[in-house]
Amino acid sequence: MGLGTEASSVAETALLANPLREGTRVRKTPAPCSIVIFGASGDLTERKLIPALYYLAREHLLPVSFTVTGCAKSPYTTETFREKARQAVQSHLKIPASEAPFLESFAQSLFYISDDFGDVKAYSLLDSMLDRFDRERGTGGNRLFYLATPPSFFPVIVQHLGRAGLAKTRDPEKNWTRIIIEKPFGRDHASAQELNRTVTSVFDEEQVFRIDHYLGKETVQNLLVFRFANGIYEPIWNRRYIDQVQIAVAESLGVENRGAYYEEAGLLRDMIQNHVLQLLSLVAMEPPARFAGTAVRDEKAKVLRAIRPIPPDAVNDLAVRGQYGEGFAGGKKVSAYRSEPKVSPSSVTETYAALKLFIDNWRWADVPFYLRSGKRLAKRVSEITVQFRSVPHLMFRDAIEDIIEPNVMSLRIQPNEGIAVRFGAKLPGPAMRIRPVQMEFRYGESFGAPPPTAYETLLLDCMLGDNTLFNRDDAVELAWELVMPILDRWKNDGERDLAFYEAGSWGPAEADRLLQRDGRRWQRL
Ligand SMILES: NC(=O)c1ccc[n+]([C@@H]2O[C@H](COP(=O)([O-])OP(=O)(O)OC[C@H]3O[C@@H](n4cnc5c(N)ncnc54)[C@H](OP(=O)(O)O)[C@@H]3O)[C@@H](O)[C@H]2O)c1
Repeated sequence: MGLGTEASSVAETALLANPLREGTRVRKTPAPCSIVIFGASGDLTERKLIPALYYLAREHLLPVSFTVTGCAKSPYTTETFREKARQAVQSHLKIPASEAPFLESFAQSLFYISDDFGDVKAYSLLDSMLDRFDRERGTGGNRLFYLATPPSFFPVIVQHLGRAGLAKTRDPEKNWTRIIIEKPFGRDHASAQELNRTVTSVFDEEQVFRIDHYLGKETVQNLLVFRFANGIYEPIWNRRYIDQVQIAVAESLGVENRGAYYEEAGLLRDMIQNHVLQLLSLVAMEPPARFAGTAVRDEKAKVLRAIRPIPPDAVNDLAVRGQYGEGFAGGKKVSAYRSEPKVSPSSVTETYAALKLFIDNWRWADVPFYLRSGKRLAKRVSEITVQFRSVPHLMFRDAIEDIIEPNVMSLRIQPNEGIAVRFGAKLPGPAMRIRPVQMEFRYGESFGAPPPTAYETLLLDCMLGDNTLFNRDDAVELAWELVMPILDRWKNDGERDLAFYEAGSWGPAEADRLLQRDGRRWQRL
């Protein structure tokens, strides 16, 4: 395999094309490095990782010298991998023809090893290739391994990396070696603990970056800015002023071609254990002393630790599960989950879950956190809504028949990212009538340029050694510990209490009753 030293590095080419960007590049650019993607012929690499790396290169955010080595079983050559990467960039970023030379320069930094993850030969070949890159391409002895493989391969790859000496940093004063591990991190508490043990027997915790791409979303980070860079909200962000918090992550798609994976996972594992609990910890955490790894991760872990455990005999009072039946999506008739490809016709896997949780600390005592997530719901939307307490006394006697809705703050994660506040306003006219109105901030309208995707942010953070937006071992285990009583109960119950809902609806009526029992209802999304 030739390493093609003739091509100047991508970042150098980009700089020549646009020297004015140098200031930006120098400030934010990581040190030269070699990136290795395990699972390089897979869906995630094609749809997210290659486009994200190209975007970073184009924005002058990749180091001056870098290489990307893909590893997978498919018998590609380096040239096939480069061609696949060109196609992935074209189809996912829709770049103009004028960028073709830059894309070509990017492609020249890609390489490929075809082998089975279990084959020790692949790792010694990788080791010698990375050494060569250091010598010939100036990658500086820094390595980033990305595990974009089915989770069953995480331990095997980690152990092989360890045995081949690839997990060790050459000179810790000068170099770094890091590993990004995709989700799902384990399938229950015991397997997550086991995986943590395996990973940390080979890598130090500071080298490990457990990814939850939700944390890389601009709006999720904006949640921290909103809470901790503004003086007016934090004083009211507590049980004295907040009545309830709702977190919704709704998808309109069904399981598509991932039926086999979904049958094993289910919604609680796929969404709540990771994304939704991450959102909850960011909404509820105490102000960290600084925006840095340990400070933020400590506060997030404290929230997870403070969530009241769900007793096995209270699961049905605090959690609802559902599965979609037939219905309509985008105006088209769609099949029931049980009729999806690679799904059992008698499957009891949940495609919807709703939960009521409490955080037992001074800030949140007795404030319910209602979480819901599902597939084939009425629309795709992720939103956090914070409902404030009603006024203690209403002095507007004329308006007594009007609907006086409590103030609600909505933090929209996707789509139409933004923040809205609902409050009562006087209806124009002689009478004192009150109507709810909305004040809105929209990310797209305020800042124009589209935000980077989560993978761009997180890949860059990892290269820069910033683990703030990645999960620490304790947080992953705490989140699993929390959902285990629900998973166990649902497993034992079989079909009992599994509520069916029509595809394209907002989920089962049982989830509405979860809130109705408390005199509340789900916010409209
Ligand atoms: N896809 C997404 O949108 C997405 C989103 C979030 C998280 N994730 C996570 O990312 C990871 C990858 O997902 P994916 O959708 O990209 O999976 P995928 O399309 O099934 O790709 C799996 C990759 O692993 C390789 N592979 C499997 N067995 C191998 C073996 N024995 N030896 C060598 N290579 C082997 C495959 O290579 P060959 O095909 O060449 O055999 C392929 O490159 C998973 O952990 C998933 O949960 C994915």
